[in-house]
Amino acid sequence: MRVGVYYFSATGNTLAGLLMLKKALEELGHLCELKPVEKQEPGSLSDAHDLVGFASPVFYGQPSEVLLRFIRTLPRQEKLRPAFIILCSGAPGGTLGSRELLVDLLVQKSFWVLAELVLLGEDSHPLLRRLRYLLPFHGDGRPDERDEAIIRRFATELVEAYRAFSSGERPSVPYRPILKCFSLLGWRLSILLRKSLMAKVLDANRCDGCGLCELTCPAEAIVMVKGKPSFKLICAGCLRCVNFCPREAIVFRAFKKLDRYRRRAALILSVLL
Ligand SMILES: Cc1cc2nc3c(=O)[nH]c(=O)nc-3n(C[C@H](O)[C@H](O)[C@H](O)COP(=O)(O)O)c2cc1C
Ligand code: SF4
Ligand code: SF4
Repeated sequence: MRVGVYYFSATGNTLAGLLMLKKALEELGHLCELKPVEKQEPGSLSDAHDLVGFASPVFYGQPSEVLLRFIRTLPRQEKLRPAFIILCSGAPGGTLGSRELLVDLLVQKSFWVLAELVLLGEDSHPLLRRLRYLLPFHGDGRPDERDEAIIRRFATELVEAYRAFSSGERPSVPYRPILKCFSLLGWRLSILLRKSLMAKVLDANRCDGCGLCELTCPAEAIVMVKGKPSFKLICAGCLRCVNFCPREAIVFRAFKKLDRYRRRAALILSVLL
């Protein structure tokens, strides 16, 4: 079986989980190719894969806008194509509603979603990550070796689900439309935050004009103007720029002290640069 996974990962957690999945599938004798959507031509999906995965972190109760935009550009598949989804949240239960949004979009494009994997990742929100120790379960350091067993089990289930699909069965994931309320609330909250005192701004005194933010922004929402970044309105809200700026020069309007998440920055930069 040849598996292709189209993914977005702002700070590396989703990608770390995918690397474990790739290893597990390869150990089972299957091929797995990881394809960052930022590097794909809009609307293009390889025919070389028997099974297609779509993976994303959760941002404010929804799959990332970067992945959703990519899927929207895809043509309707000529015949029903088997697919699976992977969602990575920063809090337990954080994926509520995101599954339904992703399934809706994929069904429109003639994909059949036969399996899903939910991963818990360390919180990458520079303000919310301070709250993580208040939760009985939080994702500090994850995904890590604790998740390997879950991911291995998922790899085996995926192979079985694909075999069932190929022999005419239609295995599916749970689908509860009511959960989309959480995503709707998250969407409203994200708009409010992006326009409020939590809007990101540049601390020009700290910025040395290195251009990393412009190079790594997945939405082409940053343009260097006279050696300093200027933010466009089309931002996908992933906060990669806030987390990864080496000079900590991108801040929130009302909050200068942020807890940036950089654990897997080198992993992401190795894929993108
Ligand atoms: C802007 C933003 C919003 C987030 N919103 C949520 C959320 O609504 N629910 C949740 O569980 N985690 C949320 N998180 C945490 C991320 O989903 C989590 O850290 C994820 O593992 C990041 O994956 P990545 O490293 O692949 O980008 C948010 C993170 C950011 C930066
Ligand atoms: S990454 Fe930071 S220091 Fe570099 S140009 Fe962007 S804001 Fe300035
Ligand atoms: S401007 Fe920053 S938050 Fe917006 S899409 Fe680009 S990297 Fe993500």
